[in-house]
Amino acid sequence: MASSVLISDTQPWKDLKAHVEDINKTHLRDLLNDVKRSQTMMVEFDGLLLDYSRQCATVETLQKLLKLAEAASLKEKINRMFAGERINSTENRAVLHVALRASRDAVIQCDGKNVVPDVWEVLDKIQKFSESIRSGSWVGATGKALKDVIAVGIGGSFLGPLFVHTALQTVWGFLVKTVKLASEQNLANPEAMGAAKGRQLHFLANVDPIDVARNIAGFNPETTLVVVVSKTFTTAETMLNARTLREWISSSLGPAAVAKHMVAVSTNLTLVEKFGIDPKNAFAFWDWVGGRYSVCSAVGVLPLSLQYGFPVVEKFLKGASSIDQHFYSTPFEKNIPVLLGLLSIWNVSFLGYPARAILPYSQALEKLAPHIQQASSPLLYLHFYVSMESNGKGVSIDGVILPFETGEIDFGEPGTNGQHSFYQLIHQGRVIPCNFIGVMKSQQPVYLKGEVVSNHDELMSNFFAQPDALAYGKHPEQLKKENVPEHLITHKTFSGNRPSLSLLLPSLNAYNIGQLLAIYEHRIAVEGFVWGINSFDQWGVELGKSLASQVRKQLNASRTKGQPIEGFNYSTTTLLTKYLE
Ligand code: F6P
Repeated sequence: MASSVLISDTQPWKDLKAHVEDINKTHLRDLLNDVKRSQTMMVEFDGLLLDYSRQCATVETLQKLLKLAEAASLKEKINRMFAGERINSTENRAVLHVALRASRDAVIQCDGKNVVPDVWEVLDKIQKFSESIRSGSWVGATGKALKDVIAVGIGGSFLGPLFVHTALQTVWGFLVKTVKLASEQNLANPEAMGAAKGRQLHFLANVDPIDVARNIAGFNPETTLVVVVSKTFTTAETMLNARTLREWISSSLGPAAVAKHMVAVSTNLTLVEKFGIDPKNAFAFWDWVGGRYSVCSAVGVLPLSLQYGFPVVEKFLKGASSIDQHFYSTPFEKNIPVLLGLLSIWNVSFLGYPARAILPYSQALEKLAPHIQQASSPLLYLHFYVSMESNGKGVSIDGVILPFETGEIDFGEPGTNGQHSFYQLIHQGRVIPCNFIGVMKSQQPVYLKGEVVSNHDELMSNFFAQPDALAYGKHPEQLKKENVPEHLITHKTFSGNRPSLSLLLPSLNAYNIGQLLAIYEHRIAVEGFVWGINSFDQWGVELGKSLASQVRKQLNASRTKGQPIEGFNYSTTTLLTKYLE
């Protein structure tokens, strides 16, 4: 397909449009009776199991989606990404986050140069530096070991690392012996237990002074290392927060202390030096790493290694790399990220469901949704950052206005908490395709005396029950048989036929967390490649930034020179004047 041809003009797209009518005549209640169909819709890879038999789709739908992938030249586009071509054409950049987790001996070219040795040079530097901090051989200005870290960054320079930190922190950070804890061999990773003992990692993102106050509360500058994380080193929020923390350190320990207490992660080492951080204490990454795909660069690897030690983080990188290989080389009908991407397209562009719920049945994954949200669209800042910044686009990569919707509104909460808030809407209100994510082995199993079912079993009972409740629903006939009073029948009826898919992970160790991250990253790329949009730029966030800068100038002029507010509409002028009062 020529790149200027819209995917919606191709025959496979038209065939899928027509196919919607066939699917609208089916009900998941019946589709799930077909065991052969269910078998086809299960994929296993490297300990993971994907079951998409509860999608409103048949085997024929799948065939048609595979044809769509072919029409979109999906394989070629994936190859071009792995080959380091500048597929982010509006920013003239390659998209090579897969190189960040490639093994030391891999060869991944960008502009004729193998980038893997550069990646490993930085990883080696992180390992050495994090070990020196953790062992106490690098000390602060007053000779004390640095046991606490504040990572300052926003968007992609924050949400990915926060997700991984939150996923690791219970077992690796502060394992609590709850009642009667299962024996250590039952734990996800006993060898890494307590790797973060006595250490704290905080993330400062919001420019709101309340976020600053919360993050430094209880921290002593003498024992704190600040890591300023910014690809550009120009992001207004991050630079203001970095200046605030520099002041926090120097006002307490003297300006010379900054050299011992502040380091940076950036692609812009000139600005790092200008800020006052020694470039020797800066950890580089590259233009070909998109902000929201940067968790596997020093952006995530440095703060996480400081907290958990480099070996734990290396396992996370290996898990992501395993999915990269799977994504690159597995035929599409068994390729987990490709299937997830194609099914999302089916739900959004054909069945017309604009939202998607990400529902991990693991509290450790509570920040998965906030991270993936960015990766898909720039329009909303709810929960799944990666997907909403990437795929919330209205034009094709060639600048043609699209006649169809792209991107999903991603949101989510860990089960079972979500069940007690928004699941009502999912069961009886809007149809929202759900991604259920379950873990076979808890990070922290608890067996109460006298109870056979563990706390984790209780959680997972819900993970298994919810998809069927959505798929089957509850028929009025059934309610009548149960003697439900007539006036309550409609209230208690569930239409069912609500799509979901289930992803079962063997456990939640650093490796599995890496797998999960890479699955979602690649799913977003698949959607973008098929829709024919650029998932790797984010022009949608620019307008707000430049308007904020105009407001900032006005505030400055009003405060310093008493100038009246001008150049804004009546509404903004009134609000600003009121604020300045
Ligand atoms: O939200 C827009 C964005 O450009 C993201 O893509 C990026 O991750 C974030 O801002 C922060 O940018 P930087 O790392 O350059 O500070």
